[in-house]
Amino acid sequence: MKYPTRVPLGHFPTRIEKLERLGGHLGGPEIYIKRDDQTGLATGGNKVRKLEFLVADALAQHCDHLVTLGGPQSNHCRQTAAAAAKVGLACSVVLRGDPPGRCLGNLLLDELLGAQIQWSGGRSREEVAEELMVQLRAEGKRPYLVPLGGSTALGTLGYAAAMQETTAQLEELNIPIDLMVVASSSAGTQAGLVLGEALFGYRGRVLGISIDSAAAELARRVQELALGAAALLGVRGDHVEAGSLMSKIDINADYLGGGYAVVGPLERDAIRTVARTEGLLLDPVYTGRAMGACMDLILQGAIGKGQRVLFWHTGGAAALSGFYDDLL
Ligand SMILES: Cc1ncc(COP(=O)(O)O)c(C=O)c1O
Repeated sequence: MKYPTRVPLGHFPTRIEKLERLGGHLGGPEIYIKRDDQTGLATGGNKVRKLEFLVADALAQHCDHLVTLGGPQSNHCRQTAAAAAKVGLACSVVLRGDPPGRCLGNLLLDELLGAQIQWSGGRSREEVAEELMVQLRAEGKRPYLVPLGGSTALGTLGYAAAMQETTAQLEELNIPIDLMVVASSSAGTQAGLVLGEALFGYRGRVLGISIDSAAAELARRVQELALGAAALLGVRGDHVEAGSLMSKIDINADYLGGGYAVVGPLERDAIRTVARTEGLLLDPVYTGRAMGACMDLILQGAIGKGQRVLFWHTGGAAALSGFYDDLL
């Protein structure tokens, strides 16, 4: 497969491990975990794979400044700040709302990594980021905008490549996975996996647990990104067309809880259970919710006890201290 240029930023391939004690605790399925929380780059996470393509694009365009946006505890902004530092670019992050009383979790890391932090206050982050782009250009700089979550067609290729890596590992380990479970929000991660499924012969399902969108809206974004990424690889209309991709998009939006970044009993219980059975840290916004959903689907029988499940650990534990009030 001929991918566009990547800047090496992360540690790949990431490991696949069996969660023996968690599987035993849930009384059934074999559960494996893909350690994309260990991709390197300032504590790791899923954005590293996307940023390898996006930063290469920024460098090819001779840009000198990355601008991105996210929530106050954005993992994406922290990893973008780290990527910028690693390749010697400046970085500005536009965060939603107003500064909190204490600078904890990812926010502390953004600061340590040298990102310039701008708060959007009552305005939309996109509008503030666009304004910042104009201002930086007026100052003679060459800014590159990394959209929310790095979820562009180009960034999505990171997870098509991740599926290629993973199918090869599973084949070598001889583990026939029936179901992959992944947290899905700005959709690039799931879109890449869905495209990779079409390209690299993974025969199970990929289930996206929606973090903050209705299923139809998220499915539309997954499809759009997967088709855009397929076009970049030049495979659209070849092995990949809209109908066959759409049939691979599987989303569960029953676990939106109190909304984005609102930590409830589902996330608290999943974080504690995985920490205490496996010594593994999930995050409060994405993987805590996705694992909570996965555990609930197992307990309800919607995921059968005889299935082999691979949970994508997409990172985020760096945010934990930013949620100390909700977690304790
Ligand atoms: C830890 C973590 N997991 C999952 C996701 C969701 O990935 P995507 O935005 O590509 O859907 C994010 C996005 O920010 C994240 O930070």
